[in-house]
Amino acid sequence: MSSTKLIIYITFLLSLFLRSSSAQNIVKATYWFPNSEFPVADIDSSLFTHLFCAFADLNPQTNELTISSTNQPKFSTFTQTVRQKNPSVKTLLSIGGGNESISADFASMASNSNSRKTFIDSSIALARSNGFDGLDLDWEYPKGETEMNNFGTLLQEWRSAVMAEASSSGSPPLLLTAAVSYSSKHDSDMYPVQVVANSLDWVNLMAYDFFYGSDSSSRITGPPAALYDPSNTGPSGDAGVTAWIEAGLPTKKAVLGFPFYGYAWSLSNANSNSYYAATTGPAMSKDGAITYPQIKKFITENGVRPVHNTTVVGDYCYAGTTWIGFDDSQSIVTKVRYAKERGLLGYFSWHVGADDNSELARAASQA
Ligand SMILES: *[C@@H]1O[C@H](CO)[C@@H](O)[C@H](O)[C@H]1NC(C)=O
Ligand SMILES: *[C@@H]1O[C@H](CO)[C@@H](O)[C@H](O)[C@H]1NC(C)=O
Repeated sequence: MSSTKLIIYITFLLSLFLRSSSAQNIVKATYWFPNSEFPVADIDSSLFTHLFCAFADLNPQTNELTISSTNQPKFSTFTQTVRQKNPSVKTLLSIGGGNESISADFASMASNSNSRKTFIDSSIALARSNGFDGLDLDWEYPKGETEMNNFGTLLQEWRSAVMAEASSSGSPPLLLTAAVSYSSKHDSDMYPVQVVANSLDWVNLMAYDFFYGSDSSSRITGPPAALYDPSNTGPSGDAGVTAWIEAGLPTKKAVLGFPFYGYAWSLSNANSNSYYAATTGPAMSKDGAITYPQIKKFITENGVRPVHNTTVVGDYCYAGTTWIGFDDSQSIVTKVRYAKERGLLGYFSWHVGADDNSELARAASQA
């Protein structure tokens, strides 16, 4: 072998090695969104491997993915900004979100092959032109068998398009992920788990928002993001992870979600203040959602001691008739260890702007 050939050969081996070592082997992620008013430059990206920038919007008229003009300046500089503290952090442009009114737009786009193609092509172009390493779909939620099937078809076609674009551009393929229900079944609709597993790099299991005061079905206090439900009747992170895995999702494609915020309720009776106590609805904000710094302020101002429940893996505190369910760093550490023990790919949180000086993110990262 000539020395030139040898050098080419070694370079080739090295590139294979680098490619395999850069494959996803752990995900420590969080979401950021502009309405949190948390500056992108304040994200301690050294605590994360992946950052989700939320949300780009589906234009229901054209079926193209767009970034609103308000968000454009922050989104287009997002990757560059977060790379300053962590040059290897990967960024994903997240699409959609929890607003139910956009679910019908996703359903319509996904129902037809032309509109799927428009959406897919525009999403790839938008991710590339704004410097993102990937795309994340937050369709909350496909309803019924047809929408679930169309969701699967969309993901399959998206994966093909992502691979085709990577080979034509010579760039590494965009990452492709989705935020999905904590369980493989949403309401009574089963996700197309095999297609999800084959098409996506991973799924973010949203194991939170289980209990909150403005949900009319839960006018009682409860752990907003229980890891375990001792009665085995309600939602929990563990039940969700188990359901996804039993349905065929490889553990290495599952990323467990937890919240950096809590929910406040108004108790009906100040003396009835444990889990499942009667309430008159949300407190402290419209839907009761409050950030971790606000929770800590409440604890300090009222001189109360939070209750950590190791069975459920969650925390609560109360003063007078105000009751708050949340995750403190202890709960979050337990959840991260759970994700490790179950062999999951990693964890994510919603959302970085609700943390207190990276306290929760740091606890998670060090667990
Ligand atoms: C949901 O989206 C609709 C349509 O874009 C908008 O009018 C509405 O204000 C949004 N709701 C929330 C809670 O953001
Ligand atoms: C934790 O919460 C569960 C569910 O409400 C309850 O059964 C259990 O007694 C609680 N444990 C502690 C130590 O409070």
